[in-house]
Amino acid sequence: MTDKPIAIAGDHAGYPLKAIIGEELGAMGYEVLDLGTHVATTSVDYPDYGAAMAAAIKDGRCEKGILICGTGIGISIAANRHPGVRAALCHDETSARLSREHNDANVLALGARVIGEVVAIDCLKAFLTTEFGAGRHVKRVEKLG
Ligand code: RB5
Repeated sequence: MTDKPIAIAGDHAGYPLKAIIGEELGAMGYEVLDLGTHVATTSVDYPDYGAAMAAAIKDGRCEKGILICGTGIGISIAANRHPGVRAALCHDETSARLSREHNDANVLALGARVIGEVVAIDCLKAFLTTEFGAGRHVKRVEKLG
């Protein structure tokens, strides 16, 4: 378990699930760094929140984060354009676990309009409790950089 906060960010479509994820993180004992958006009623642009997450990782405010938009697609594409971000868009617990084990993902991306709350929380728990497997995966992850 990291002693740094877990950052959360998302656009208006992701806002309701972000609120749930934030509460769940608190219940799990994590400090939460909420990078916005802070309302569901104003339309915003998901690349801005991918960039905010990348900046928080780059400057050391967090080591891991959760990004949420409608599908998770736009915000994961946006985040992965920034060096040092390995964002994994997941729709199931197994993918979330393997994103850590094989890819050393530091950001979990979720689609609020395509997965339910229970599956999202399963993904969250798998993502946060799985360590990088290292070994044969190290050189592959290094090549991503
Ligand atoms: C917003 O309407 C929606 O396009 C966005 O949340 C996301 O799904 C984009 O990938």
